[in-house]
Amino acid sequence: MESGQRVRVGVIGCGAGLFHLEGYAEEPRAEIVALAGLETDRCRELAERFGIPNVYRDYTELLANPAIAAVSIAVPNHLHLPVAVAAVAAGKHVLVEKPLARNAAEGEQMVAAAEAAGKVLAIAFQRRGRHDVRIVKGEVERGALGRIYHAKAYWMRRSGIPGLGSWFTNKEQAGGGPLIDLGVHVLDMALWMMGNPKVQSVSAATYAELGPRGTGQWQGSRFTIAPGVAYEVEDFATALLRFEDGATLQLDASWAAYTGHTDEFGVSLLGSKGGAAIDVKDYAQTGTLRLFGEIDGTPTVTEPRLVPRTGHADIIHGFVDAVLDGVPVSPSGVEGLERVRLIEAIYRSAEEGREIAFR
Ligand SMILES: NC(=O)c1ccc[n+]([C@@H]2O[C@H](COP(=O)([O-])OP(=O)(O)OC[C@H]3O[C@@H](n4cnc5c(N)ncnc54)[C@H](O)[C@@H]3O)[C@@H](O)[C@H]2O)c1
Repeated sequence: MESGQRVRVGVIGCGAGLFHLEGYAEEPRAEIVALAGLETDRCRELAERFGIPNVYRDYTELLANPAIAAVSIAVPNHLHLPVAVAAVAAGKHVLVEKPLARNAAEGEQMVAAAEAAGKVLAIAFQRRGRHDVRIVKGEVERGALGRIYHAKAYWMRRSGIPGLGSWFTNKEQAGGGPLIDLGVHVLDMALWMMGNPKVQSVSAATYAELGPRGTGQWQGSRFTIAPGVAYEVEDFATALLRFEDGATLQLDASWAAYTGHTDEFGVSLLGSKGGAAIDVKDYAQTGTLRLFGEIDGTPTVTEPRLVPRTGHADIIHGFVDAVLDGVPVSPSGVEGLERVRLIEAIYRSAEEGREIAFR
C-alpha cells in the first residue's frame, strides 16, 4: 500500500474491541468498515455508534470481505491463533490483543504465518504509551538512573476476576489467570523500560485461594458470573526473574486477594544513580510517577506533571504507519512472543516448584 492512502479495517470482538474502535476513530488514516462478534445487539449498537457499515457474527465472514486490509483481533485468548492465521491467509495485516497467545508454540505459529505472508503482526501493549512509562523509558535511556539492578512489577486486584465461570477462568480458553491476563502488561512495561535485558532464570509460584470458592468477582464490571462452573486458573502469581547482567525483577499479579490494593498496577526501578516508581490506582493517568535522586547527598523526589493519553490510539497509530508506510512496528508480534515465552516459563517454574533456566 502506498503512503497517502487510508487503510480499511475490521474489528473482531465487541468487548475489548471497543478500545480498538475508539483508537481507529481517532486515526485519520484508518476507516472502520466492519465489526464482528457473537453478541448481536451489542455489536450492532457499537456499529451504529461508530458508523460501521458491515456487521458480521463470525470472524470468518469478516475475513471474507476483500475490502478489508487490516484487522484488530479482540477475542478470547484461545482464538488468537486460529483467527490471526486465518486473517493473514486472507491477506490481512493483524493487530492482536494481549497476550499474543496461550503459549509460545501458538505464538510462534502466528509470527511465522505473518512473516511468510509478509503481513504486519502487532500487539496491543497499549500501556507503553502512558506518559509516566514514556518518561521513565527516556530517563533510563539517557542514563539518568544509572545501571538498573532491580525492578518490581505488579498488578494487584482485591476483587477483580473478570467473570467467574467465563472463558477467563477456563484454563483451556485463557491459558492462565491474572499472570497471563494482567501480569503480561506490567512485565512488558518493565522489560521495555529496562531496555529488554536477557532473562537467565525464573522462579515462581501460583495460588488459587479465592476463585475456586466462587469469590473475588470483579465488582461493577461488564462481566457476569456463570454459577457452577469450575475455576481452573490461578488467582495470584508471584515470580522472580534473574537477568544475565545480574539484575532481578519481582512480578506479582492477582485477580483476587485479601490486600489493601483495589485495582492497582505499577513498575518501580532501582538504579545505581536514581530510581523511579509508577503506581497506578484504578487506572489513573496522572499523579502516578515519582523519580528519586539526590542533590548534594540530600534525597529528592520529583513528581512530573503528567498528561493523560488515550489507551489504544498510540498502538493503532503505529499499526497504521506499519501497514501504509512499512514502518517497523513496535510493540510487535515478536515482542508479544517473547513475553509469552516468559509467561510460559513462569507457569512451568510454579508447576515444578523450582527455579528454571530460561532458553
Ligand atoms: N489491552 C487491554 O487492556 C485488554 C483489555 C481487555 C481485554 N483484552 C484482551 O482482549 C481479548 C478479548 O477480551 P474481552 O475482555 O474483550 O473478552 P469478551 O469475552 O468481553 O469479548 C470477546 C469477544 O470475542 C467475540 N468472539 C468470540 N468468538 C468469536 C467468533 N467466532 N467470531 C467473532 N467474534 C467472536 C465475542 O463475541 C466477544 O465479543 C483477550 O485476549 C483479552 O486478554 C485486552
